[in-house]
Amino acid sequence: MHYNFDEIIDRRNTGSLKWDFKERYFAEKDIFPMWVADMDFKSPQPVIDVLTEKAQFGVYGYTEETESYHDAVVDWIKQRHNWTIKKEWLHYSPGVVPALHWIVQRYAYPGDKIIIQPPVYYPFFEAIKNGGCQIVNNPLKLIDNRYYMDFEDLENKIDDRVKMIVLCNPHNPGGMVWSREALCRLGDICINNDILVVSDEIHGDLVLSGSKHIPFAALSEDFAMNSITCYAPSKTFNLAGLQISNIIIPNPRLSKEYKIALARNEMSRPNLFAVAAAEAAYRGGQQWLEQLISYIEGNHKLVEDYIAKNIPEIKAIQPQASYLAWIDCRNLGMDDQELQRFMEKKAGLALNPGAMFGQGGTGFVRMNLGCPRSVVEEALQQIEHAVHT
Ligand SMILES: Cc1ncc(COP(=O)(O)O)c(C=O)c1O
Repeated sequence: MHYNFDEIIDRRNTGSLKWDFKERYFAEKDIFPMWVADMDFKSPQPVIDVLTEKAQFGVYGYTEETESYHDAVVDWIKQRHNWTIKKEWLHYSPGVVPALHWIVQRYAYPGDKIIIQPPVYYPFFEAIKNGGCQIVNNPLKLIDNRYYMDFEDLENKIDDRVKMIVLCNPHNPGGMVWSREALCRLGDICINNDILVVSDEIHGDLVLSGSKHIPFAALSEDFAMNSITCYAPSKTFNLAGLQISNIIIPNPRLSKEYKIALARNEMSRPNLFAVAAAEAAYRGGQQWLEQLISYIEGNHKLVEDYIAKNIPEIKAIQPQASYLAWIDCRNLGMDDQELQRFMEKKAGLALNPGAMFGQGGTGFVRMNLGCPRSVVEEALQQIEHAVHT
């Protein structure tokens, strides 16, 4: 089956956060939404079919995650990432972000330190603060348009209060796919210092050609025992509004703690539609995903080429994963507020301001390319016009 990602789907008045609630998050009203990370594409056909069938059935009672759903997750991870996981390692969460909150609260004490590597997905900050813990920044180094981990800085910042690192693998917003060497070095440092690795791998299925996602826990038995992996079908198949994710915990001791966290938050039962949709996606969504990734690559290429040719004042970081473009606007010489106003008022775009992503984010914006190419082109034209007039 051929999927048409060029199709413009009007999402206005459908309850979409990105389209219908943007006024709550941006000062300007009439701006084009390229912010929150979902895509303006339909999900794979098998997902639509199963949801239609469920909706038609008309009885929407409680459910639980089925054996068959867990089989589908196990098979998908094996087939896509060559990582053999066991069904008993799988735990439910409606989302990766809620899971991060519970993980911080359950595996660290208030006052403990938790490391993050900014610029990074901003809800990490809130999850750490919400658990009463201290954020320790281990900023990434930007060298020749690529981000690298700074291990020297990391080792210098470790002390007895550091209990956890929240790793973003692949990295949002920079789109880095971490190498085996980087992950191994990080994993060894964490084991030597008794630091739990929480690896957010929500973008792991969306790796662009030429790169390979390596699940942190797949690297060694020791790493598996010292980690929690947050994984989900929501970015992969555009199911974010259905709310289901998979928290993978190979260590039985850590697993027991997670179950307590779920029980304490009365959060053990998933949404009926979410389980059905996720299973259908894992079983029948591969073809759609391959076509999607190739389309997204085309969008990234357009951004790179268009900027190089028409807006040399700015530069997109070369991504290895996902549909988010991280654009360096530091040469425009604006502070964060000016840049935000400029993108909203002059370019007419709702983008995520880089400063949200913490240290190293100033002067950048994040643009969501999960939309038809013609839309990306129009947005680039708007930026070009804004920069040059
Ligand atoms: C790195 C990362 N983690 C988590 C999420 C969101 O997870 P969820 O919607 O499952 O809470 C996102 C969404 O953009 C993300 O980029």
